[in-house]
Amino acid sequence: MNGLRILLIVGGGIAAYKACELVRLIRKAGGSVRCVLTRSGAEFVTPMTLAALSEQPVHTSLWDLKDEVEMGHIQLSREADLVVVCPATADLLAKMAAGIADDLATTLLLATDKPVLAAPAMNVRMWQHAATTRNVARLRADGVTVLEPDEGDMACGEYGPGRLPEPEAILAAIRRHFAGRGRLAGRHVLVTAGPTQEPIDPVRVIANRSSGKQGFAIADALAELGARVTLVAGPVALPTPYGAERVDVETAREMEAAVTAALPADAAVLVAAVADWRVEAATAKLKKVDGPPTLDWSPNPDILERLSRSDRRPPLVVGFAAETHDVVAEAEAKRRRKGCDWIVANDVSGDVMGGDSNQVHLVTPHGVEGWDKASKRDIAQRLASRIADALEGRDEGH
Ligand code: CTP
Repeated sequence: MNGLRILLIVGGGIAAYKACELVRLIRKAGGSVRCVLTRSGAEFVTPMTLAALSEQPVHTSLWDLKDEVEMGHIQLSREADLVVVCPATADLLAKMAAGIADDLATTLLLATDKPVLAAPAMNVRMWQHAATTRNVARLRADGVTVLEPDEGDMACGEYGPGRLPEPEAILAAIRRHFAGRGRLAGRHVLVTAGPTQEPIDPVRVIANRSSGKQGFAIADALAELGARVTLVAGPVALPTPYGAERVDVETAREMEAAVTAALPADAAVLVAAVADWRVEAATAKLKKVDGPPTLDWSPNPDILERLSRSDRRPPLVVGFAAETHDVVAEAEAKRRRKGCDWIVANDVSGDVMGGDSNQVHLVTPHGVEGWDKASKRDIAQRLASRIADALEGRDEGH
């Protein structure tokens, strides 16, 4: 959600406290939030709380002249990419449906030409009342995205639909709103990430130190640009990036099968640290008394090379190379040997594996670019944007 600006209208309901968590989640996801608090919303959360969480002034009143001088209500909505109403009370939904503008929040909602997403929260009977049903249908017909409330125990002691969706679900809906609009909308990108594990016996594996962070960040950045992302992940305990379809695997051969099953793709970014070798796994646990085991090694498939040379090859194939010396020369040799288009080479002679930053070179048929040391997230966003350039035919490195 990098750089996306949300105008958050906080209505008056007990669920208003969850709007505070939503502000935190949006900011953590890279978006910015400006809050408007209705008069009844201010009975539940204070402007101070929202201002502290959003690090922006909070707007409460249409008649606050200072607000109008500094930033009029039209300007407030002009500077947003999306207006989110959370919690959307029965009263707010009714006013929105009827086009009533009698305070700052409702005036903004009537004046805005930006998309609006409403997360309702109210008592179950209010939600099921014919008037609310009518208002929600009206708003949806007008193009407002009205989320379905959750079902469960309510603060008022009743049970049923009407609870505010969890902040994570609202964030997901916000992200879904922006998906399909990005530069990679309509594209399918395949990403491998994390280590593979090769079993030795039922309880032991050969593993490596890959954290999966860089690959997951790339999947996230691609999804953020609107791509449909298949993320084939080795064993890592990282949350699935929003919008990515995750396929969990353990071994290199499982990873290869998952990659093949996900084709066709417009691009593939193979970040996983795949074990080069596997051993014939014992079916029973190896016992210490039997002495040091003799492992029977055989090579794993090179997924990157096979994909690059297959007749179902995606138009753009990107590999990674973790090197400890002669980084660029090794990466260039690897690019040619494996037949991929680009190699992102990183120097792992320091403590990069598992860390949050990375220093990489992008090696393409047209040359080598040294990228400044940056967070894995920043590198992911830069790479995703280069992939979008390449698929649009605007990247001379391809
Ligand atoms: N890779 C792969 N399948 C393998 C091994 C590697 O798809 N069996 C991919 C990785 O995901 C990465 C790239 O190949 O994109 C480079 O992997 P690396 O381990 O550096 O390559 P190797 O051929 O194993 O070279 P080295 O001798 O340096 O280990």
